[in-house]
Amino acid sequence: MFISFEGVDGSGKSTQAGLLASALREAGFEVIETREPGGTPLGEQVRTMLLHGADMTPWAEAALFAASRAQHVEAVIRPALERGAWVVCDRYVDSSVVYQGVVRGLGAEAVYDLNRVVTRELMPQQTFVLDLDAATSRARQDGELDRIEREDDSFRARVVAAYRDLASRDPERVVVLDASLPVAELAERIRERVLAG
Ligand code: TYD
Repeated sequence: MFISFEGVDGSGKSTQAGLLASALREAGFEVIETREPGGTPLGEQVRTMLLHGADMTPWAEAALFAASRAQHVEAVIRPALERGAWVVCDRYVDSSVVYQGVVRGLGAEAVYDLNRVVTRELMPQQTFVLDLDAATSRARQDGELDRIEREDDSFRARVVAAYRDLASRDPERVVVLDASLPVAELAERIRERVLAG
């Protein structure tokens, strides 16, 4: 089973991905916990370029996220799924569709098509979108901001709206949860949903 977590920066998706992975391990499953951009040595190098490198055009950005993802799918995700492990991934194709496709304006379809090719059509069975308003997202940010986190509130608001829209188009796979709920309650809802599925 392949599960992804999505949401605007500061939504707590990394925390929830970690809690779900621990719960599944306690239930006796092998779990690969991973993230994008990253997840492989090449992916981590690409991550540094994307988040701390030079300015780039939107298509250069989409292509770099896709390059990291291509490596990640073939080297980590697909082999894990083939041997029966669970994969819990912090961001995946939906991040590119939302950030590059909708918010950067490349077109959701065009970015999705690129990603279908590079992943050989591997999509998660279940995706959790942690929904948080733009102001809270910014307020939760600390430390040095990366290239994408430096974008303004209207960028964040468009990310939030694009995730809601995505979920409404694919309600079977994509579940939206209120990221302002207490961490433990949110974790419980996610666990129930996963174990029921
Ligand atoms: P993330 O690792 O979730 O941020 P952090 O750990 O710093 O909170 O993601 C890094 C940034 O990359 C985030 O702003 C979203 C962006 N992103 C895209 O724009 N497209 C993508 O395909 C992915 C995977 C991430």
